[in-house]
Amino acid sequence: MILVAAGSGVRLGAGMPKAFAPLCGEPLLAHALRGVFGCAEVGHVVIVAPGSHVLQSREVAGQDARVDVVAGGVDRSASVQAGLGALRHDDGIVLVHDVARCLAPTDLFARVIRAVRAGDPAVVPGLALTDTVKVVDAQGRVLGTADRESLRAIQTPQGFLREVLEQAHAGAASATDDAGLVERIGGHVHVVDGDHRAMKITTPADLAVATALLQDGPYAG
Ligand code: CTP
Ligand code: MG
Repeated sequence: MILVAAGSGVRLGAGMPKAFAPLCGEPLLAHALRGVFGCAEVGHVVIVAPGSHVLQSREVAGQDARVDVVAGGVDRSASVQAGLGALRHDDGIVLVHDVARCLAPTDLFARVIRAVRAGDPAVVPGLALTDTVKVVDAQGRVLGTADRESLRAIQTPQGFLREVLEQAHAGAASATDDAGLVERIGGHVHVVDGDHRAMKITTPADLAVATALLQDGPYAG
């Protein structure tokens, strides 16, 4: 799998790359690796690290022989491509996961892998929306209300047959996630149930929510 961790974390504002920002005393990267390696189906992991933090990423991963570390690119897509270049030849199913979703639970990884194994070439976890969603123009005028029943908020890990992910990255210009690239080249993408713990840590408020999730309570893992 490819764990993209090369972002700078500007919106979090921790004064260091987001993968190294502390959450309950441990870097996000350490939390993410715990979820990943709790899943027996995950073999090889490529950590795509900030160029300045390749060695530190290696240290967080310990001496684990299942982990390779490479430097990331200018944007998320370039970082995924750097990860693709470091896959091993027997990586037939590839998960792409954001370190920013470092509390994604082990069973979510397993669910995505199982769905790809069962025959879906591209699989994404998604959650039903609870907010009403409106389409607006640049002036803030409401153009319509979306049909919430048909919408899903999409998370990572996203799972792919390796050749599908490679074709998508070779052939499509840009998208906000890897499955979006698969859609652009006409590929089918299937949604499985997401998990609220796979929330994305973007801002300090998200870090506070993640801290609460980790502490004992009704929502803890
Ligand atoms: N990412 C990456 N390489 C980049 C940019 C982003 O590997 N050049 C990764 C981030 O590490 C993160 C995921 O893509 O795991 C989603 O990105 P985002 O949440 O935007 O993280 P950052 O880019 O670090 O945050 P910001 O945009 O606030 O700087
Ligand atoms: Mg970013």
